[in-house]
Amino acid sequence: MLNQVEELASKAFDELGKVADLNELEAWRIRYLGRKGSLTQILRSLASLSPDERRVVGAQANDVKKALEAALTEKKETLEQDLTPSLQHASLDLTLPGQQVTLGRLHPTTQILNEICDIFISMGFQVVEGPEVEWEYYNFEALNMPKDHPARDMFATLWIDSETEAGDRPMLLRTHTSPVQIRVMEKTRPPIRIIAPGRVYRYEATDATHEWMFCQVEGLAVDKNITLADLKGTLFEFARRLFGEDRKIRFRCDYFPFVEPGVEVAIDCLVCRGAGCRLCGNSGWIEILGAGMVHPEVLRRVNIDPEIYSGFAFGMGVERIPILRYGIDDIRLFYSNDLRFLRQF
Ligand code: DAH
Repeated sequence: MLNQVEELASKAFDELGKVADLNELEAWRIRYLGRKGSLTQILRSLASLSPDERRVVGAQANDVKKALEAALTEKKETLEQDLTPSLQHASLDLTLPGQQVTLGRLHPTTQILNEICDIFISMGFQVVEGPEVEWEYYNFEALNMPKDHPARDMFATLWIDSETEAGDRPMLLRTHTSPVQIRVMEKTRPPIRIIAPGRVYRYEATDATHEWMFCQVEGLAVDKNITLADLKGTLFEFARRLFGEDRKIRFRCDYFPFVEPGVEVAIDCLVCRGAGCRLCGNSGWIEILGAGMVHPEVLRRVNIDPEIYSGFAFGMGVERIPILRYGIDDIRLFYSNDLRFLRQF
């Protein structure tokens, strides 16, 4: 009887070694440890042995049973971890090249906005934002452009509520970032040094040089003793940092109702360096922004005493900068979501 148990054990271990999958393992379990399995039958037949024999054989058979059960558990775990059989049936081909993950990138406008903000932040300006849907008051009235002021013609406006419907508080899509100046001065006392980047809207038929939505960056500094020289120094430094150290800059008189005096600022042409070419329309200069000294009337409106304080302001179109830098010939490319264009930046 002892021999029989030993033989059974060695045969069982032998076969277990050859088991290759979970189905075979289950068959093996039934063969040896199942209700009618060979080891189970030996254990049942112990009853017919003499007490002495029963003790010896019983102990041995129980040891074998424990050993087989332990080996079964171990084998089961190994088989479950082995993915080879299931992969043989699966349609997954691990040797195929992987799918390329395309990385997103920042929009060219965002990139240039970040650059502009960094320059002004380093000069001590704070970045603030204002609403794109704006009251007529902030967009025009408070900026010294009362109703029927001819300067309103400069801004083809998209109205949200017609003046009659909204009573005395008409709304519009802001036509420039200048209203943020007013919002800041209403809430803050000088010294003020802010820039305000954001989208602006115009009721415009689009073409290569006109979009109905584009971005501007507004700037405002208000304090005691601020002069036009501060404006010139600040914008000169800005132009050199953005467009290069050897940049020339030109200030000429211009008119904006919210500044006095008002100036138009140009840099020497990036392509011809002043000689005259197609990009600068043969003038040698490229306008980059409008600026001026904040109009005393504008300061008075926000309860800042123009006898004590003065300030400068400027506003620039953002898309114009990458247009100049990269020679982009159509502003509509910026917001038509053509990846072939956007991926180049
Ligand atoms: N808001 C003007 C525009 O959109 C640009 C501008 C001109 C802003 C002069 C200013 C300024 O702050 O002082 O055309």
